Amino acid sequence: MKHTIEEMISTAEIDRTLDQLAEKINAHYANSERLLMVGLLKGSVVFMADLCRRIKGHVEIDFMSVSSYGNAMSSTREVKILKDVQSDIKGRDVLIVEDLIDSGNTLNKIREMLLLREPKSLALCTLLDKPERREIDVPVDFIGMTIPDEFIVGYGIDYAEQYRNLPYIAKVIPAE
Ligand code: PRP
Ligand code: MN
Ligand code: MG
Repeated sequence: MKHTIEEMISTAEIDRTLDQLAEKINAHYANSERLLMVGLLKGSVVFMADLCRRIKGHVEIDFMSVSSYGNAMSSTREVKILKDVQSDIKGRDVLIVEDLIDSGNTLNKIREMLLLREPKSLALCTLLDKPERREIDVPVDFIGMTIPDEFIVGYGIDYAEQYRNLPYIAKVIPAE
């Protein structure tokens, strides 16, 4: 698709959002001994890198990779694990780190899978939330920014694998 991109959220605005998020996360986990941050590949990589450097105390990071299968129009989409976390999460404080929540399918499935492993606690953090697109209600504990239903890229988020390296978040505008 021919398109152009237009900056929507600047690097400075992202930095401020992460400062605020980290303050809340640090307060919440002040008494946690070994927090495990779990990022979902690939979109969360840039956000994870910047967020984890703002978290205090003993922090470990890990990643999962999942893919969605099935009819995109149905809410019965299956989520398959392509790469699991390497850590044993039983009894641990676990924070899932996502770049974007759209339908909620990805986070909902991962939440259900990880809860079966009996973590001490399981919380969800997302940089961006598009509530208008939600198909499944999933409890999100830390939200950076709520945004309208726009097609966005940058700061880890791709369009056909492109633009993950943009240091800001941009809107994709289809060419006439
Ligand atoms: C995108 C985004 C979230 C997910 C949100 O990932 O990074 O992980 O979609 O959508 P949902 O709420 O409707 O499940 P994508 O599947 O494109 O993989 P990527 O992170 O590798 O780009
Ligand atoms: Mn993703
Ligand atoms: Mg993607």
